[in-house]
Amino acid sequence: MTKTELKSDAFVFLGASGDLAYKQIFPALQSMVRHGNLNIPVIGVAKSGWNLDQLKARARDSCEKHGGIDEQALAKLLSLLQYIDGDYGDEETFSQLREKLGKAERPLYYLAIPPNLFSTVADGLAKAKCLHGARVVVEKPFGRDLASAQELNRTLHQYFEEEAIFRIDHYLGKEPVNNLIYFRFANPVVDGVWSNKYIDSVQITMAEQFDVSDRGKLYDEEGAIRDVVQNHMFQLLSCIAMECPASKSHKSISDERVQVAESICTLTAKDVVRGQFDGYHEQKGVAKDSTVETWAALRFHIDNDRWNGVPFYVRAGKCMPVTITEVMVRFKPTMQPVLDEAEVGTDGYYRFRLSPHEEIAQGLKIKQPGEAMIGSTGELVIHEKPRDEMPPYERLLGDAIKGDSTMFSREDSVEAAWRVLDPILGDVTPVHKYAKGTWGPAEVDDKIKPNDGWHNPVLDESD
Ligand code: BG6
Repeated sequence: MTKTELKSDAFVFLGASGDLAYKQIFPALQSMVRHGNLNIPVIGVAKSGWNLDQLKARARDSCEKHGGIDEQALAKLLSLLQYIDGDYGDEETFSQLREKLGKAERPLYYLAIPPNLFSTVADGLAKAKCLHGARVVVEKPFGRDLASAQELNRTLHQYFEEEAIFRIDHYLGKEPVNNLIYFRFANPVVDGVWSNKYIDSVQITMAEQFDVSDRGKLYDEEGAIRDVVQNHMFQLLSCIAMECPASKSHKSISDERVQVAESICTLTAKDVVRGQFDGYHEQKGVAKDSTVETWAALRFHIDNDRWNGVPFYVRAGKCMPVTITEVMVRFKPTMQPVLDEAEVGTDGYYRFRLSPHEEIAQGLKIKQPGEAMIGSTGELVIHEKPRDEMPPYERLLGDAIKGDSTMFSREDSVEAAWRVLDPILGDVTPVHKYAKGTWGPAEVDDKIKPNDGWHNPVLDESD
């Protein structure tokens, strides 16, 4: 067995009293126990003045609010749980950790803490001799821009080999995202039309109906581009546009993701429109004069033979009319002599809904009754939920414990994404107001407008 295939024998999460642990980690751990995939010590570390009983109460509450409690699984999880209350700058915190790790030789550290603490924590772990055989999981966004991401990579590499660093982006653990890759490469009929010869444009919409109220302070330091475009949207873009990997290995898949990410043209101000919903300044933790965007529309171009000339539009934002993530791949108009001219401009598409439930649909044209050779577009829904899927955090934590990094971001892919976005971060473009419950600021159409207009996804009865 190689080093990377050895399972971790302790799970330590730093930031145990925080938002991420509450919303994602405890429910994922409970689910892992339920599926028989977790039977190692789970050590929470935080500086909150808590004791173990308080952490257990938090774990129970977290599971109750996020998916529900499975009494048997939760009881087992609580029996695995240990807690250290301490400051990350204090050596005592790490000597306690060394003690609690006991005979564990391959701990997995989950850094659910702000990136500016990574170096302090890694240093503390190193001094207390807690790093031998260790792996580390770090959350997105990885850095704030290209320079800070490179700096963070350098910092982590002082303590961990690249193969021991797991940069998490939960979109990569989503079943529908993996289906984007599968669907294309498993169906020659789809792969055959997957290029600028047939495709007119691609739109990716990540609309969220809710605001930022429970995480205003954190969000206000990032904004939509850093929060979801640099990571989740980039992953989707890479999955849609990449060439077929030579194998299922982490290296092959990452190589292709990076290859395409490196072919994406660096953005300029004309490719970006930023928006901020009315009332954002009143959200808890948000600066009164904040110019951070809660919505963004961006136009990407990929400079390679397959995609030259095809715009990729991305829109992501808060306080939009619905919560839905969808990819729309529109085909170029066909003009065959046998069709009436009115047909031009109304062609087919593939539509991939990623959430709230997965759906893949193909828009095809059929003739309308009558003498004219004119049709209308009907939808063939190829795949629908409900399916029994493993939630992304459960899957990714399980993979990290196993040492399988296929669904994690490699150093070069993170840096490639920042390289594209770097020139437009911050206040390079103005931020326009938009009313809550709308699709964003009207100004977008003056600057960025897809040929056939924006695709605004709608929920259907099954959602
Ligand atoms: C997170 C972002 O990474 O992803 C949030 O920080 C966003 O702002 C969330 O709401 C969306 O994730 P999902 O899985 O619900 O689409």
